[in-house]
Amino acid sequence: MRDTTRRQTLSALSTLALTVLALVGCDKMRGGGSAAPASQPASTTAASAAPTGTGNILIGEYGSMTGSEATFGQSTHNGIMLAVEEFNAAGGLAGRQVELKSYDTQGKSQEAGTVVTRLITEDKVVAVLGEVASSLSLAGGRVAQQFGVPMISPSSTNPQVTQIGDMVFRVCFIDPYQGYVVAKFTSENLKRTRVAVLYDQGQAYSKGLKDDFRKAFEALGGQIVTEQAYTGGDQDFSAQLGNIKAASPEAIFVPGYYTDVGNIALQARKLGITATLLGGDGWDSPKLTEIGGAAIEDSYFSNHYSHEEQRPEVQSFVQKFQAKYGVVPDGLAAMGYDAARLLFDAMKRSPSLGGKDLAAAIAQTKAFAGVTGAITIDAERNARKPAVVLQVKGGKYAFAASIQPQQ
Ligand code: PHE
Repeated sequence: MRDTTRRQTLSALSTLALTVLALVGCDKMRGGGSAAPASQPASTTAASAAPTGTGNILIGEYGSMTGSEATFGQSTHNGIMLAVEEFNAAGGLAGRQVELKSYDTQGKSQEAGTVVTRLITEDKVVAVLGEVASSLSLAGGRVAQQFGVPMISPSSTNPQVTQIGDMVFRVCFIDPYQGYVVAKFTSENLKRTRVAVLYDQGQAYSKGLKDDFRKAFEALGGQIVTEQAYTGGDQDFSAQLGNIKAASPEAIFVPGYYTDVGNIALQARKLGITATLLGGDGWDSPKLTEIGGAAIEDSYFSNHYSHEEQRPEVQSFVQKFQAKYGVVPDGLAAMGYDAARLLFDAMKRSPSLGGKDLAAAIAQTKAFAGVTGAITIDAERNARKPAVVLQVKGGKYAFAASIQPQQ
């Protein structure tokens, strides 16, 4: 993706260089002294569509295609692309095709703000899909809100994301619910009462989810025996794990992202900690088991879907995704697919592709048949959906339980 962008930039630059050279040449032939004014526009190669009318409709996507959360962006992108291809093959929007413009955030908040600004002001997209990580959706969402362009996060679960304003939506559940799901499973299914917490203090997602878990777990009669913090990318967790070992918990809740969680699992087992490891959706990556190996076996985490669910939406998606990419889709891919399809559905119902109309159409979405469940956008622009709990087994993620939203 970055290559494509770079290639486009390069070709635009070389066009500009050639134009300038040509103009300089002409000037020389005419005997003029000065070079061509820099204000001469190069030929425009931009193919982006106008928000309404004819031509392709440009949609933006921003995600971590590289860095320690790279599988989040890559899986989401694959899910979105499958939806785009299906929509276009079925005729698009009254014959107009959808085109996706994607940028890599590298997992960095600042980059998220920069690329969303570029998508809106330069590429002139009609809507934005992304990000996965809540801290990055917070940065990108503020930009989308400022410019009045609708954004749908496939999978950011921190409540603050959609609180930014009326342009920001999500198709997933939020963390107060996810915290309750893990707490209920820990207390009622696993029957553990003494739990330690180890969270990433640099991520809005991790900080929020550990508070939500604590609240729900204590309400169920559980006890948090110690709370320890790290910062994403840390390599040495021995101080925190030493404190946790001393508190002798029955389980450790680690609401982080997969690269750190894999490393934490390895180091915990090395220190002789045998307590069950628990987590949230941030664990969802094939890399978790690649990094964690035996150390992460028999752990549990909450997630948005399981490829083992028998619902027809799930089975048909898994089949199509596997045929196209040769791998079983993770939750991110399913959420990306759902976010894109929900956007296309709203585009069909919207009187125009202007930000206000499109946002109103997204807001009116009811019982949309998503892979990750029926999606109704509520008054806070969130979706209420069931969650699943997965168990790490033999390097794979097995369905362990499904937990419904509280009434
Ligand atoms: N929910 C996480 C966040 O808000 C992102 C995530 C979603 C990660 C789904 C993995 C799977 O930061």
